[in-house]
Amino acid sequence: MFGRLFANVSQRVPSLLERVSQIMKPQVVFVLGGPGAGKGTQCSKIVESYNYTHLSAGDLLRAERAREGSEDRHVIETCIKEGKIVPVDITINLLRKAMEETMQQDEKKFRFLIDGFPRNEDNLQGWTRVMDGKADVKFVLFFDCGNEVCINRCIERGKSSGRIDDNWESLEKRIQTYLQSTRPIIELYEKHGKVRTIDASRSVDEVFADVKAVLDKEG
Ligand code: ADP
Ligand code: C5P
Ligand code: MG
Repeated sequence: MFGRLFANVSQRVPSLLERVSQIMKPQVVFVLGGPGAGKGTQCSKIVESYNYTHLSAGDLLRAERAREGSEDRHVIETCIKEGKIVPVDITINLLRKAMEETMQQDEKKFRFLIDGFPRNEDNLQGWTRVMDGKADVKFVLFFDCGNEVCINRCIERGKSSGRIDDNWESLEKRIQTYLQSTRPIIELYEKHGKVRTIDASRSVDEVFADVKAVLDKEG
């Protein structure tokens, strides 16, 4: 698939750095944590200081839901409202396209923070099916935060986010989905020594200080 990606690289003779970049596999950090744990906030801060592109699965799904002519808008809307996970075929296509577009625009941009994915077994299987061998998952950045703090942050965010799922009813379901479906995925990566856990219940800056320590060491 990344053959397609590199087909458009300009005709001139590429520099050594460009050639090295061209054979670079996408390097991926999965960013997980409960709803409102601060994944998006921390990813934005990472992008300011490190050479990563932030791709939020939730943002991509919301954009697809809003896209005129999208065949998937209804299933996405229902899942989001109900706190359920959208079938992976939809999500993986959006992620793959976003990664390809990013690398097409700038072949040196091969480091990705994939935020809010994989959220369940179906997500993980879809990733393996489509991306195995085509991208390296370096580790999972896990923002660990109690449910109560998560819910309060989302309710607060809901005052201005316009999101259809930042309300008590949806949040109860989102927390259930997180506990039942996402935590086992985090535990699976943990068994392989691939999880970097950060206490996300503290202030944005305190959390970011720990994020920096992880990225400076192995990012
Ligand atoms: P997620 O992407 O994990 O759902 P967000 O980054 O959108 O979470 O954060 C959820 C809400 O909580 C936002 O309104 C954000 O401004 C706020 N927030 C994020 N991190 C913190 C923090 N460490 N302390 C307090 N509020 C936070
Ligand atoms: O990560 P975020 O809070 O933006 O996700 C919002 C919603 O988008 C989730 O509750 C879920 O309904 C949907 N989603 C999904 N699959 C993902 C990520 C998000 O179905 N991998
Ligand atoms: Mg988010």
